[in-house]
Amino acid sequence: MFTVEKKWNKKNSDEVLVAGITADADNLPPALEKGDKTLVANLETKWENGEISTKNGKVTTMTFLDEGKGLQEIIFVGLGLNAERTLPMLQEAFGAAIKAVNKQKRTKIGVLLDSFSNDLFDDAVTARTFSDAALTASYRFDAYKTEKEEQKAYDFTLYVENGESKALKAGIHHGSANGHGVNFARTLVNIPANDLTPVALAGEAKALANQSDQITAEILDNDELESLGMHALLSVNRGSDQPAQMIVLRYQGEDTWEDPLALVGKGITYDSGGYSIKPGHGMKTMKSDMGGAAAILGAMQTISEIQPKKNVLAIIPATENLINGSAMKPGDVLGSFDGQTIEVNNTDAEGRLILADGVAYARHLGASKIVDVATLTGACVVTLGDVITGAVSNNDEFYEKLEKSADATGELIWRLPTHPRYDEMVRSSDVADLNNSPGREAGTITAGLFIHAFIHDIPWVHLDVAGTAFIERETPFGPKGATGVMVRTLAELAQR
Ligand code: BES
Ligand code: ZN
Ligand code: ZN
Repeated sequence: MFTVEKKWNKKNSDEVLVAGITADADNLPPALEKGDKTLVANLETKWENGEISTKNGKVTTMTFLDEGKGLQEIIFVGLGLNAERTLPMLQEAFGAAIKAVNKQKRTKIGVLLDSFSNDLFDDAVTARTFSDAALTASYRFDAYKTEKEEQKAYDFTLYVENGESKALKAGIHHGSANGHGVNFARTLVNIPANDLTPVALAGEAKALANQSDQITAEILDNDELESLGMHALLSVNRGSDQPAQMIVLRYQGEDTWEDPLALVGKGITYDSGGYSIKPGHGMKTMKSDMGGAAAILGAMQTISEIQPKKNVLAIIPATENLINGSAMKPGDVLGSFDGQTIEVNNTDAEGRLILADGVAYARHLGASKIVDVATLTGACVVTLGDVITGAVSNNDEFYEKLEKSADATGELIWRLPTHPRYDEMVRSSDVADLNNSPGREAGTITAGLFIHAFIHDIPWVHLDVAGTAFIERETPFGPKGATGVMVRTLAELAQR
């Protein structure tokens, strides 16, 4: 799908050509001067007339008659000013480029990669970002459409004049691995809840493990959960006809199995709210309530391709949150794997219940650090919208490491504060140790700190993806629906 070559020349004019164009540029990309004379003259006129936009992410597609070669298509991608470019802007530009490519009939695509690189983003980074975008910007979910649009297979040739091919190839591989992980996560979230049950989710995890020599899978069923005392997870599961699953994957990147980084994901395959039932409009998208679990499985896919030298433990408590005659009720008091008791003030605050057992199990299995990812609170959607993922942490050093990983992948996270008063709120139950829903105030923080009560002193970061995992608008990075957010960040963290 991707090949690297040093020089573009007009012999390749059966390709659609993609070129970046910055607002600093006085001229067209130098490589283009090697094209046909009339073509170059035509382009220069268009450029001088200001018909080629340099605004970041703005695409100008042009068709020329190239003497002797017939029609030639060039897609110019605006890059704004070199000094102002951020990684999300570069991702946006490549996303727009891929969408323009998708509109073309031709499937042979040449990319003047040099024209996208600058002092901040070298060729390896642009190659990684491009191969990622090539997979993720054109993602579609049409598994349930009886008539499917044809998915074209593209041959991309990346032209890099001074490219060191080893670093470039690694960049392309890394970007593709990210793309595979992100698209896998998206598909898991997009599959409706009647098909993606907890058992089906566990099946996907086992299939992932079967593809890799370094990953093993273990699935705990209701009987095993019962004997381990996972009452928080089991209580949420009581209202459902589908069995619960505790999904455990182990990726061994080191010689011995020690000190794994644990990734724990909320795997509510459908959230009706339970007896604290959601209104209809809030329920409609709740197949996406396993977006945290999907991020972790997507990251494990990426990790299996990049093969970092780090042990990674993935833990996904999975169940539906539904209603029947045995379902948990507001006012119930639950036990947990960790031993602490929980008063259920609101059955719709179910994510923190299953994560309580999830993170406690991660500790039990020897996790040295824990990241949990969850579509946890509507409050986070109110706070940060669909733009930025919320974070809560008990450890500055570990948080900074995660933040750097997010920065390196262009994903956006923002840390919320902790305070002893918020911990008191989490513990404000008259009858039990903890209260699963102390109220609307500081809702994202108290949800995070509830999980923290089961972390104790292990370095931990909680990522609330309620706003970012499933979105209602198309972006340059992909269609509306599931985003696969945090896959890249988690895989990057494992590498670091
Ligand atoms: N799954 C929801 C959170 C959510 C809301 C995710 C919107 C994505 C979009 C979660 O289980 C929930 O309902 N949380 C409650 C907690 C409250 C009862 C303390 C909420 O946010 O309202
Ligand atoms: Zn809920
Ligand atoms: Zn939920």
